[in-house]
Amino acid sequence: MGSQWGQDKTYFRAKHEGYRSRAAYKLMEIQEKFAVIRPDDNIVDLGAAPGSWLQVERTLTDARIIGIDLNPIAELDGIDTIEGDINDPAVVEQVKSTLGVVNIVLCDAAPKLSGHRSYDQARIIALNEQALAFACKVLKPGGNFVVKSFQGTDFPELYAACKNNFYAVKTCMTKFTRKGSTELYIVAKNFIGPAIL
Ligand SMILES: C[S@@+](CC[C@H](N)C(=O)[O-])C[C@H]1O[C@@H](n2cnc3c(N)ncnc32)[C@H](O)[C@@H]1O
Repeated sequence: MGSQWGQDKTYFRAKHEGYRSRAAYKLMEIQEKFAVIRPDDNIVDLGAAPGSWLQVERTLTDARIIGIDLNPIAELDGIDTIEGDINDPAVVEQVKSTLGVVNIVLCDAAPKLSGHRSYDQARIIALNEQALAFACKVLKPGGNFVVKSFQGTDFPELYAACKNNFYAVKTCMTKFTRKGSTELYIVAKNFIGPAIL
């Protein structure tokens, strides 16, 4: 469960290419493999700071994008941001009233880690479930959801919950994830709606 900011080759590539973090390349790879985002999709990005996914999203859709994070997100042209918690019902309402239709929910959020593996794993899965609940509240049927998770004891339940709500669900380990990490993304396409949680 490493930091996004260790100074490896991808870190320097991101700096050179003007991305705010190396995480940008993970979203590019997911998009290349799964075509999650279409050119007219409205997107909500959960846990979006510092904003490299937002930068990639801007190149993939001409529609609206909202980034949400507990931390402030430095301004990006043509992107709305909310400084807030994805669990706050007021944030959900703000997204609905701003976008109307939401086609895509992406979540690269991660809690602050304690270093205790099983405790951290439980907190990550809890955050993943909150992201899924958020997606189910705002997505239109047919919409897509991507969430970063980690393999571990509670992962199968999360995966099953995604399968209950989307017609097509897969996992993806990107080549930009650090060696030895258990990080993986769930790519859930075609929201059935309404939510089954
Ligand atoms: C790995 S960073 C995301 C990197 C981002 N995708 C990018 O490309 O720049 C994880 C973020 O999740 C945010 N986060 C964690 N829990 C959150 C919550 N409950 N609500 C909103 N953001 C949250 C953290 O503040 C942190 O900025």
